[in-house]
Amino acid sequence: MTEPLTEENGEPAGSPAPSRRALLGWGGAGLALGAAAAGGTVAAVRSGGDAEPAADTGAAVPFHGAHQAGIATPVQDRLHFAAFDVTTKDRAELIALLKEWTRAAERMTAGRTVGEGAYGGPAEAPPDDTGEALGLRPSRLTLTFGVGPSLFAEDRFGLADRRPEALVDLPKFPGDNLDASRSGGDLCVQACADDPQVAVHAIRNLARIGMGRTAVRWSQLGFGKTSSTTPHSQTPRNMMGFKDGTRNISGTDEAALTKHVWAGATDGTGWMAGGSYLVARRIRMHIETWDRAPLQEQEDIFGRDKGEGAPVGKAKERDEPFLKAMLPTAHVRLAHPDSNGGARMLRRGYSFTDGTDGLGRLDAGLFFLAYQRDVRKGFIPVQRGLAASDALNEYIQHVGSAVFAVPPGVRDTDDWWGRALFA
Ligand code: HEM
Repeated sequence: MTEPLTEENGEPAGSPAPSRRALLGWGGAGLALGAAAAGGTVAAVRSGGDAEPAADTGAAVPFHGAHQAGIATPVQDRLHFAAFDVTTKDRAELIALLKEWTRAAERMTAGRTVGEGAYGGPAEAPPDDTGEALGLRPSRLTLTFGVGPSLFAEDRFGLADRRPEALVDLPKFPGDNLDASRSGGDLCVQACADDPQVAVHAIRNLARIGMGRTAVRWSQLGFGKTSSTTPHSQTPRNMMGFKDGTRNISGTDEAALTKHVWAGATDGTGWMAGGSYLVARRIRMHIETWDRAPLQEQEDIFGRDKGEGAPVGKAKERDEPFLKAMLPTAHVRLAHPDSNGGARMLRRGYSFTDGTDGLGRLDAGLFFLAYQRDVRKGFIPVQRGLAASDALNEYIQHVGSAVFAVPPGVRDTDDWWGRALFA
């Protein structure tokens, strides 16, 4: 079934099929599965007696659409997130870069190499692709692009009057201990994939293409998704051992996405219609202290039990929480929409462990990512309440912070990341 490969790059001859799939012998079967998955990016699998839709970890997620992929998309297993400083002062150079990035992103999310590939080109020139993803599947790679408040500052690129009102600078919250070198950024790219090497390859190649025009400001690797956007799948657990994402916005709940996640055409910033706003917070967990806390205290802190994930006084994870049964300082009680004037956001965070903190403890925690229609109505009010009273604060500290406007989706192969912003 494998299609013939050309000498260059392992690309199937005369075929748009992704080279990495072809190398694995997917060929036609892979394409059929990709097409089947194109709508919802899921493929039906049967296990036991259930016909439960499950994410196909090898498939490609369509890059083009009204919204960028990587928001409502079923959450992949791995993350590589990068924030960039724009180093060029030239608007035309920045636009050229965004076009190049978009073309590379189109190819990489489809499982293809960047440009002419990793080998087979002129021996005198460096290859277009770095090569470490050759032979790997598309792995549901999504690349989600955003712009930070600093891109609009001082009219650097003639964008001062294009800054969306909803893209506010986050206030300093009580307890914040933010490291400037892990915060902010003019641009960001969130790479999510089921294979870490595929996610890292994508960020690395975008950074390489950007050289001379952008510089990586900070980046974060993540594993073990801490939120689900697929409520019928098993809810993942965070580093504190609790199910996380139970009451998240589902990626198929169109009404909730429209109300709480996608920027609307009448929201005041026309070019953002169909986009969203992303808050990223690097939250350090003091897991060594947490591991010595009694089970009852751990459960009281969240307002849910550790095994089932059921809210206090209820039997099942999906039972409706009864907030008054929880401590007034319980995380779920404080974060619940009923405590925040109906505020909701789509959480899409990942766990991290980045070596040690030099004091004999793991530098571990939650890289919190949340998408919302307006930061002033989503993250800010919820975090104000949490920062003030959350019992969890004894065990966590926010050490990095960034906010980005995530433009609407790239419509087709002529469109590019940020086109509407520069129009
Ligand atoms: C390390 C930090 C955090 C941990 C370990 C954590 C953990 C959890 C857990 C276990 C739940 C219950 C299950 C669920 O519905 O997802 C939950 C719920 C929630 N969390 Fe967090 N969370 C953290 C930080 C935050 C932050 C910074 C925010 C937003 C500012 C937030 C917003 C929410 C919301 C909105 C819910 C759902 C509440 C509901 O509707 O019942 N969390 N979190």
